[in-house]
Amino acid sequence: PFIDRLFNAGENEVKLAKRLGIDRTIIVPGDADLQDRVYQEMGEALSSALDLLLPLGHSIITVLGGQALANSAKYLSASLGNNRQLEFVPGRGALGENVATQSNTIVQEMAAQTHGTYKALYLPEQVSAAAYRSLIRESSISDVLQDISQSDAVIHGIGLAQEMAKRRGYDSIKLSELREKKAVTECFGCFFDDQGKIVDRITQVGLQFENLKKIPYIFAFACGSKKAAAIKAYMPNAPRQTWLITDEGASNMILKRK
Ligand code: F6P
Repeated sequence: PFIDRLFNAGENEVKLAKRLGIDRTIIVPGDADLQDRVYQEMGEALSSALDLLLPLGHSIITVLGGQALANSAKYLSASLGNNRQLEFVPGRGALGENVATQSNTIVQEMAAQTHGTYKALYLPEQVSAAAYRSLIRESSISDVLQDISQSDAVIHGIGLAQEMAKRRGYDSIKLSELREKKAVTECFGCFFDDQGKIVDRITQVGLQFENLKKIPYIFAFACGSKKAAAIKAYMPNAPRQTWLITDEGASNMILKRK
């Protein structure tokens, strides 16, 4: 089973972790851009990694949205829930995004697979600063924010800056500003350039990038050769305890470039 393989990282997994400055990478075979079945292996790898790291008993897992996680959520194993009470919470409001890839939808799927529970955050993804200040005082919202701040684990995707900005409704002027600022990657609403500088940011209710480092277990979930540039640009900013779950398509691209 996969769990045995987790104890012995492969040569490329070690090389990739070193290159990216994180504790561990897991590389599944194939390239998600060409083969849909990769999402199954990605999901199974995530499930095994969670099984290896999470203690028994109650754990809070904060989940961000995205297509890759939406494709793989159904492959979490039911046995992950054995002797564990897993609570899945969305990492941020996400209304406005496609329902299938919203964190609200993904937490429901993950909870169903593992016989756990979930909470919802029915909020738009982007809010004004004034709305943000009053929303975080609403009890149904502050309850979820409290759980997020006490998360044992976070699972998140990594996006290409231009693609994510388009998905979030940036107009052509804002898109070209983002290009001028050389944004390469997006994570937690932050757009980073390839030097790791945050060059733009969306005000979101939910997990803030600055608080990520306090969370014991972090799983970055991104695959397909097209994602290589985004992964490479984000990872130097990631807390060291991050485990990257990826595929050969992305990892071969990263390892072949200096
Ligand atoms: O939506 C959550 C998120 O983690 C974003 O911050 C990231 O850019 C995105 O997922 C990437 O997801 P995908 O490319 O799999 O849709």
